[in-house]
Amino acid sequence: MKAAYFEQFGGPEVLQYGDLPDPVAAAGEVLVNVHAASVNAADWKFRSGAYERHSNAKPPFIPGRDFSGAIGAVGAGVTDLKVGDAVFGVLNAGREGTYCEKLAITSAIIAKKPDALSHINAAALALTGLTAIDSVDNTLKLKRGETILIQGGAGGVAGFAIQFAKHIGARVITTTSAANRDYVKSLGADEIIDYNTQDFTKVVSGCDAVFDTVGGDVAQKCFAVLRPGGRAAFIGSGMEAPKPNRSDVTSLRPPVARARAPLERIAKLFEDGAVRPPEVKLYPLSEAAAAHRLSQSRHFRGKLIFQVG
Ligand SMILES: NC(=O)c1ccc[n+]([C@@H]2O[C@H](COP(=O)([O-])OP(=O)(O)OC[C@H]3O[C@@H](n4cnc5c(N)ncnc54)[C@H](OP(=O)(O)O)[C@@H]3O)[C@@H](O)[C@H]2O)c1
Repeated sequence: MKAAYFEQFGGPEVLQYGDLPDPVAAAGEVLVNVHAASVNAADWKFRSGAYERHSNAKPPFIPGRDFSGAIGAVGAGVTDLKVGDAVFGVLNAGREGTYCEKLAITSAIIAKKPDALSHINAAALALTGLTAIDSVDNTLKLKRGETILIQGGAGGVAGFAIQFAKHIGARVITTTSAANRDYVKSLGADEIIDYNTQDFTKVVSGCDAVFDTVGGDVAQKCFAVLRPGGRAAFIGSGMEAPKPNRSDVTSLRPPVARARAPLERIAKLFEDGAVRPPEVKLYPLSEAAAAHRLSQSRHFRGKLIFQVG
């Protein structure tokens, strides 16, 4: 199969495009012919060696966490999905490898793709949707009528989270650069802060919840805008939630477990018109380095997607 992969951790230039052996579906797994895979920030962190110490895998390394495609073969014991089914999903935590034409994955953690959702858009909504739902609903337990600040509104996860929070019935404040103002407004944001010209801690206060997708200094400053008893969830600050500098708020790190049910929820949200796919920029697998350069710049809108087959 064709794949984008690398042999050594490093910059975008380590990515190569070429042939690697086809995987085989083991018991309980399906073999998926991948039609689309998305670029997530985790992919360039993995490529640069940020997760090296966690990885037992040996090179060549294929990056990528989510995909959409069609089942080409089923392993022993798989009865819930069949050859030809269109499916989408996210690899188990700690596993990378969707920038390729074929992958083997446990059938129990993937879901059927609705016909009305293209493979490109299914790949765009998979890990972003899983993360946004786990953060906003399971972790922050956002309720109708509450106010949430979502940091980094033009990004992949935040773009889903804005729409999902509006669907729940919350009021949404978000941060973005001026270039993406209209985009986040179209996603449903009620109040938009240009982080280049406004300090969000000066113009926002009393929030019930904060969802931070940016990390760094932004993450630590988020506690300032919470009401007493407010809660904040962080996905851009590593696996530990930052320690709050006040004792009357809660700091949380969503676990983002992989499972079929939340993927089916993403599909339903799409079918109900509650969430639409993000703006998408397409790449062939052979241009993985260019896609990583743009993702790593942290300044683009929506999702970068590999159109695989
Ligand atoms: N399971 C998990 O735990 C999980 C899953 C997915 C993602 N993540 C993590 O979550 C983070 C976000 O991922 P993502 O894929 O959604 O991000 P992304 O799409 O790469 O985010 C890029 C966006 O961030 C915005 N941005 C950059 N700096 C900003 C700032 N200071 N304030 C506000 N917006 C800013 C940019 O908008 P402008 O161009 O307007 O600046 C751009 O649209 C990453 O660290 C990723 O590793 C974790």
